[in-house]
Amino acid sequence: MSKKIIITIDGYSSCGKSTLARQLADALGYVYVDSGAMYRAITLYFLRHHVDWTKDAEVKKALARINIEFLYRPEKGVSEIYLNGENVEYIIRDLVVAEKVSEISALREVREFAVEQQRKIGKEKGIVMDGRDIGTVVFPDAELKIFMTADNAVRVERRFKELYQQNPNITIEEVKNNLEMRDYIDTHRPVSPLRKAPDALVLDNTHISCEEQFNIALKWAKERIKN
Ligand code: DC
Repeated sequence: MSKKIIITIDGYSSCGKSTLARQLADALGYVYVDSGAMYRAITLYFLRHHVDWTKDAEVKKALARINIEFLYRPEKGVSEIYLNGENVEYIIRDLVVAEKVSEISALREVREFAVEQQRKIGKEKGIVMDGRDIGTVVFPDAELKIFMTADNAVRVERRFKELYQQNPNITIEEVKNNLEMRDYIDTHRPVSPLRKAPDALVLDNTHISCEEQFNIALKWAKERIKN
């Protein structure tokens, strides 16, 4: 049996990280873990329960009540995220959550909570995890680290198309503002800011297709698995 590795994919919002991560996981028979979904689920819980996240004690109390799981849905062939037993895979993509997630994911307690679970999931290796700090903080020894990037206009357009299907009232301006705000907070927060790990390979997909990007990344993965 071939060696199992950890593949991390970090980068700005809406770069296509999850698409690539899913494709790689499928091709290699690995588990895909969407770390952003964990931060979104925590945000959803905070919003629903009116948690005052400016108060450390409230944050700690709330986190103690949160249970997050990824459960495999055989009929769809994918894993979906569950928050305290409820499937929240779709509701966490809402703009209401996106507007607050960068603020909440910047909190130290929230990051410690999520990182601990992410490391547990990665213990057996054979995973592809995407996020912002996966190659720098969560798995600094990962065998393959990819840093994805794409031009802003291309990212806005892609996210708009995705969100428009769920909400035809959404405007391109709203999507653009949200992406810019999240990029700013994600790269400027004091705890685990979004950075390219020094040993990460850069994949800029502004001008390449999904298929081309997949072929490049799969080649990198196979090289690392062989060595
Ligand atoms: O990947 P995404 O857009 O679903 O992530 C949602 C937010 O969660 C993103 O704006 C920043 C945060 N995040 C993070 O801080 N660290 C991660 N590893 C993943 C996501």
